Amino acid sequence: MWWSKAPSRWVPRLLLLGALAPLVLGCGARPASRSETNVVYWAKHHITVGGKHNVNPVPASAQNIADGQQAFSSYCMVCHGLDGQNTGVPFASTIAPVVPSLASPQVQAYTNGQLKWIIENGLYPSGMPPARGMFSDDDMWRMVLYIRHLPKAGSLGEPAVYGGEGK
Ligand code: HEC
Repeated sequence: MWWSKAPSRWVPRLLLLGALAPLVLGCGARPASRSETNVVYWAKHHITVGGKHNVNPVPASAQNIADGQQAFSSYCMVCHGLDGQNTGVPFASTIAPVVPSLASPQVQAYTNGQLKWIIENGLYPSGMPPARGMFSDDDMWRMVLYIRHLPKAGSLGEPAVYGGEGK
């Protein structure tokens, strides 16, 4: 069965279709202005995103960061790039809301618990999907570690799904 294969084989393709659909169908949304974006970030940081005080139980060892990178590269890279900074993702800046650089101060200002919450629950109704059920709790925490230790933008190349030389 197609779904019994490793999710890393079919999930990126499925997501790619989902992410590209609004572009193909023509999305009328205009990009948010800077002040709108700031208001949205304020609301997310203080109200809508949960998990603020949850502590990452997984230590930031080199192995755990590498495992987090591995999990991230099996799925999240379709929208966030291998480096978490959108490298090689063709629609990152044209969808609304845009795919933010995970190295940006706004994203780094979340607590570890909030990052884990975002990964687990997604951000409805934006294009950020929930990963609950796809990864173990520990793997989601490892991805948080990777987000805290992102490599230099562009250093990992472009994802192979977009014809790049990366993973
Ligand atoms: C289908 C595309 C897509 C996939 C796959 C995806 N994301 Fe996202 N992600 C987005 C978009 C779009 C946003 C911006 C959401 C917003 O601003 O509301 C986002 C935002 C984020 C944010 C920042 C939230 C904020 O408020 O700016 C984090 C952290 C994040 N994603 C982590 C991940 C991780 C880790 C994975 C893999 C488990 C992942 N994402 C998979 C599209 C995606």
